[in-house]
Amino acid sequence: MERLPLVERYVGWLAGAGTERGLMGPREVPRLWERHVLNSAVVGEWVPEGVTVADVGSGAGLPGIPLALARPDLEVTLVEPLLRRATFLEEVVADLGLPVRVVRARAEELHGELDFDVVTSRAVAPLDRLASWCMPLVGVGGAMVALKGSSVEEEIAEHRATLEVHGAGAIEARSLGESLLEEPTWAVRVSWAGEPRVSWRLARGSQKRRGSRSVDGRARTQRAGRRKGTR
Ligand SMILES: C[S@@+](CC[C@H](N)C(=O)[O-])C[C@H]1O[C@@H](n2cnc3c(N)ncnc32)[C@H](O)[C@@H]1O
Repeated sequence: MERLPLVERYVGWLAGAGTERGLMGPREVPRLWERHVLNSAVVGEWVPEGVTVADVGSGAGLPGIPLALARPDLEVTLVEPLLRRATFLEEVVADLGLPVRVVRARAEELHGELDFDVVTSRAVAPLDRLASWCMPLVGVGGAMVALKGSSVEEEIAEHRATLEVHGAGAIEARSLGESLLEEPTWAVRVSWAGEPRVSWRLARGSQKRRGSRSVDGRARTQRAGRRKGTR
């Protein structure tokens, strides 16, 4: 990562205030880099250049902060309802000098208010509930990208009908970070059913797409996110 000193500073926040305030388990400290920061940053492999991103249920900033650190071209908004966590996020973003907005809200409270090209999440909810929270935040042509476990395809099969009710078009699962992580992470991308507005080519610097398979046959920057209906 280009901004290594900032990433190290973020890891310091997670290991320090993050564990003291109960946002990270102390047992996670030795594996913050691999299991949390890198595992999160690789979501960028599935985020096109220059788009708006909301990270729903960001917690201690995962995957939103590593993504913002790795990809300064993105306009990232962190959505987190819990005061203690939102406060941590505001402090971290200010300390790192990141142009990232923190919105303290449940995703559902933003429906009809804001939309984004990409809505990310990690470890927030089962796919059906996640779709009901995240798909209304996805702008026309955008997508929800959720980091999931290796059983993502079973989860997709189980919840396909609900995903479609919430506007899903193409649903695709793939592994991310194969060249970087000992254990690649799995993600599902659920595209909005309408015409794409953004190009889904890989972002510059991302690895060649591998392991891909189709499953179905603004900071404080007020720039991030748009009011619904302003396109
Ligand atoms: C298990 S934590 C995961 C945090 C982080 N994404 C990570 O991977 O470490 C789930 C987070 O989702 C948040 N959350 C729960 N319901 C939510 C909702 N309806 N909208 C937005 N965030 C929500 C919680 O407050 C919590 O911070």
